[in-house]
Amino acid sequence: MVPPLTPQIAHIMDHTMNSNNKPEKEPLTLDQLVKNIHLALGPDGGLDSEHIDANEILKLMEEYSSNATDWSKYTIFDHSRAYTRNLIDDGNGKFNLMILAWSKGQQSPIHDHAGSHCIMKILDGELEETQYEWPNESKNNAAKNTKDDDTECNCKSSSSSSPSSSVESSDITEAVQTSSSLQSSELNGNPLRTRKCTRLHPNEVAYIHDKIGLHRISNPDQGRGAVSLHLYTPPYQVCKTFEEKTGRSRMGGKCTFYSIGGHRCTDSSS
Ligand SMILES: [Fe+2]
Repeated sequence: MVPPLTPQIAHIMDHTMNSNNKPEKEPLTLDQLVKNIHLALGPDGGLDSEHIDANEILKLMEEYSSNATDWSKYTIFDHSRAYTRNLIDDGNGKFNLMILAWSKGQQSPIHDHAGSHCIMKILDGELEETQYEWPNESKNNAAKNTKDDDTECNCKSSSSSSPSSSVESSDITEAVQTSSSLQSSELNGNPLRTRKCTRLHPNEVAYIHDKIGLHRISNPDQGRGAVSLHLYTPPYQVCKTFEEKTGRSRMGGKCTFYSIGGHRCTDSSS
């Protein structure tokens, strides 16, 4: 008796012949990517980031090539917010795959990821990722040479509010408010130390985990929005946000959904 085929990653079997009569892979669709992520993370098992092979998920995300036909129905902008979080698939509780629609010149607060893996792929426009060390690391490393090229960041903030941004918002997607009245005498704490700053272009993929550090994502273009695809596994609902100048944190970054499956959430929550 022939044993049943092991479930295969969809795109491996999905190819045609090109003009040279050689196999040519069909472009992976977003639906196929979702199926592949489900297969990679398995139908059950421990929901623990330690058991997840981030490299495997990263590779899957790299194999998908942005096609607006796939993702436009999930992409809902709201320019009163820094960005919107639009859920594509909840991964049966094992992951969240979502589209983030970034308003012109806006940015996220500096935040952690509640112990989850975060994999981000640029679908349209460009984004900047600025990574920071955890506050206590900044303190411990204060004596290190700050002229180290690896830690220099030349990316300009996409928002005029940036250097003294406050993190007073309760929803992580709210536009970052200016706190220009914050005086140096009020800055108790040490500034967060920048690890690196990276400009990301369409189809490029970035990865972060709390073991790496914190980050902020910015849309540096003042004239157009940007779109990115994010996979979080395990999913989470709340993360910490941080003040850049003091390293102070607060547990208040509620990670709500603006839409689910292309349908607007009435209260912008999941
Ligand atoms: Fe993030």
